[in-house]
Amino acid sequence: MQPTYFVTTALPYANAPFHIGHMMEYIQADIWVRAQRMRGATVHFVCADDAHGAPIMIAAEKAGKTPQQFVAEVAAGRARYLDGFHIGFDHWHSTDAPENHALAQQIYLDLKAAGLIATRTIEQFYDPDKGMFLPDRFIKGECPRCGAADQYGDACEVCGAVYAPTDLKKPYSTLSGATPVLRASEHHFFKLSDPRCLSYLRDWTGAAGRLQPEVLNKISEWFAPREDGSAGLADWDISRDAPYFGIEIPDAPGKYFYVWLDAPVGYLASLQAWLARQGQTLEAFFANPDVRQVHFIGKDITYFHTLFWPAMLHFSGRKAPDHVFVHGFVTVGGAKMSKSRGTGISPLRYLELGLNPEWLRYYLAAKLNSRVEDLDINPEDFVARVNSDLVGKYINIASRAAGFITKRFGGQLAATLDAEGAAVLAQLRAARPQIEQLYEAREYGRALRDIMALADGVNGYVDAHKPWELAKQAGADAALHAACSTCIEAFRVLTIYLKPVLPALAAQVEAFLQVPPLAFADADTPLGAHTIAPYGHLMQRVDAKLLDELLAPPPEATPAPALPGGEAVAEVITIDDFAQVDLRIARIEAAERVEGSTKLLRLLLDVGEGRTRQVFSGIAAHYTPEQLVGKLTVAVANLAPRKMKFGVSEGMVLAASHADEQATPGVFVLEPWPGAQPGMRVR
Ligand code: MSP
Ligand code: ZN
Repeated sequence: MQPTYFVTTALPYANAPFHIGHMMEYIQADIWVRAQRMRGATVHFVCADDAHGAPIMIAAEKAGKTPQQFVAEVAAGRARYLDGFHIGFDHWHSTDAPENHALAQQIYLDLKAAGLIATRTIEQFYDPDKGMFLPDRFIKGECPRCGAADQYGDACEVCGAVYAPTDLKKPYSTLSGATPVLRASEHHFFKLSDPRCLSYLRDWTGAAGRLQPEVLNKISEWFAPREDGSAGLADWDISRDAPYFGIEIPDAPGKYFYVWLDAPVGYLASLQAWLARQGQTLEAFFANPDVRQVHFIGKDITYFHTLFWPAMLHFSGRKAPDHVFVHGFVTVGGAKMSKSRGTGISPLRYLELGLNPEWLRYYLAAKLNSRVEDLDINPEDFVARVNSDLVGKYINIASRAAGFITKRFGGQLAATLDAEGAAVLAQLRAARPQIEQLYEAREYGRALRDIMALADGVNGYVDAHKPWELAKQAGADAALHAACSTCIEAFRVLTIYLKPVLPALAAQVEAFLQVPPLAFADADTPLGAHTIAPYGHLMQRVDAKLLDELLAPPPEATPAPALPGGEAVAEVITIDDFAQVDLRIARIEAAERVEGSTKLLRLLLDVGEGRTRQVFSGIAAHYTPEQLVGKLTVAVANLAPRKMKFGVSEGMVLAASHADEQATPGVFVLEPWPGAQPGMRVR
C-alpha cells in the first residue's frame, strides 16, 4: 500500500508577515510533498496561523485592535507569499478556529483521564498596573551579577549570566514600567515527570529513521540526568491566567492553555477542516494504518515537537508523528536574521522586483540537505547557480533544439533516434529511482547535482552532434531530426526530475510539449513521434543588478540633485507614514564611553516611561559624556530594539550630519526649545 501522508510545516506566529526563513521552510516541505505526489502518493499538506499567546495579545492592544482583528489582518496577507512562491498548501487554518478550541480541550481532557495533569500553586511576577501576570520577556531589571541595567528576565546580554526573572534587581514591567509583585496562582501541568512519559519518548524518538541523528543527540542531552542527579523530564506548565488570548481550560474558569499547548493541536484542526470539505473525519482518516504524519520544523522548536507533542498525542490516545524533519536557519550574506523580523531579503520585495520565484526555489533546493545545517543565501552564488546551471545547462537544451523541430519538421518529433541519443536517454531514465530517493530523503542538493550532471551529458551530446551545423548540411535532415528529438525527450525527462522544485516552469513545459501533467513514472515512456507546440521563452537569466537591489537597504531616494545637506530628499511619504515614527523628547540621564568602541556612547534616556532606556549612539567623536548629561533631545521611541555587541539599544537619538562627513564634518544632536518635557511626542 502507498502511504497517505499528512504533512505540515510549523504554524507561524500571526503577528508578522513571512520572512525568508518561513519561505525556506515552506519551500522545503512543498518540494517534498510534490515529489511524493509525483510518485503517486496521496498527500494532505496543511498549515495554519498560530494565533494565540501573550505577545500577540499585547501587540494587538498596542495596535488598538482586538487580537482576532489583528491576526485576521496578518492572515489576510499570507496568500500573496504562498501563491507567489508556488507553495501548494491544501489548506490554511487558524489555531483560534473552533476546531482547535474543541480539539485542544478534548486532548487536555484525555490527558487528564490518563492521570497526566496536575495542578500546583506557583509564584510569578504580576504587573499590578496592567493587572496581569508577566511572561518573562516582559520583565526587565538590573543583572544580578554585573548590575547592567535593562536586562531581560532570563539572561544578561552584557555579562551572559543566566537567571530567573525573580533574581533581577529593580525589576520592572516593560508593559507599564510598574514594579512587578510576586503573586501566587494555581497552574496546570502536563506531568512529563511521570515515568510512562520518559519510557514512551525513549521508544518514540529512538525508532529507526524517525529523527535525524543530530536531533537524537540533542534529545539524549534532554534525557540525561540533571546536575542535581535527578533524572527524567520536568513537568510542563501548560496554563496561563486571564487576561490571555487563548483557549480556556475546561472546568478552570479564568485559566487558558499556554499557546504552545494549543499550537501543535492546530495541525490536527487544520487537517480536520480540510478533510471535512471532502466529507471525511479525523477518526476515519487516522483509522487507516497507512497514514504517515510528517512535520517540517526549524531547529529552535525541536523540543516542543519531539517531546511535548508526541507525548500529548500518544497519551491522549492519538497517533504520534512518524517523522519530525528539522532544518537549520537561513542567514543572508553570512548574517543571522532576527526570528521575528527577518532581514536581508523580503520575500514580497523579491516578487515585486520581478525576480522569478523559481530561481529562489531552485537556489534553496540546491543548498538543502537532510541535516540540521544553517543555509546562507549568498548573492553571487545565487546568480551563478541559476544562470550557469538552471538556465545554462537545462533550459538551453530545449532552446537549442526546439526551433528546428518546429521549422523543419512541422513540430513532430522523430520516431527513431540515433544510437548515442538512445544511450544518453537510457542514462537519464536509469537515474530515476536514485533521484526519487534523494527527494524522499530531503537531499535536494544532491538530487539537483545529479540532475545537472545528466544535463551535462545531454549538452555533450548536443555539442557532438551540432544541430546548427546539421541544419546547414544537405541530406542531414534525418540526423538533425533525431538529434533535436533526443534533446526534446531529454529535456522532458529532466523536467520531470526538476518538477518538484520548479512546478510552474514544468507546467509551461507541459504546455510546450503538449502532454498532461508529468509524474515520475512518465520518464520511462518516450514521447515518440509526438507533436509539440512552438517553443516560447521559458526562463530568463538572473540580472545581478536586481539582486543587488533586493539586498540593498530599503528604497532610499534616488540620488537626484545634491542639496546643501549633500543628500537628495527621500521619497514622498504620507502623514500616516510619518506618524509611524514615534519621536519623543528624551532626557539624557547618563552617558558614558563604551569600552572597546571609539564611536559609541552609551546613553540612558528618560522618555517619560518611568524608567530609563539604554541607547547606543555613534557620537563619541563629537561629544563628551559630560556635555550630554542632563540635556534634552529627541529620540525615536518605537524603533525595534537592536542587539549590539555591547548590549541592546532601545531607540535612537536624532542628530544632523552632512552626507559627506569628510568634506563637511560634524554631528549635531537635536535639542528642543525650553519647556519641552521628557515623553512629549514630537509631531
Ligand atoms: N508559532 C511557532 C511554531 C508553532 S508550531 C505548532 C513558531 N513560529 S515562528 O513564526 O517563529 O516560526 C515558524 C517556523 O519558521 C519555525 O519552524 C521556525 O524554526 C522557522 N524559522 C524562523 N526563523 C527562521 C530562519 N531564520 N530560518 C529558517 N527557519 C526559520 O515558532
Ligand atoms: Zn550581567
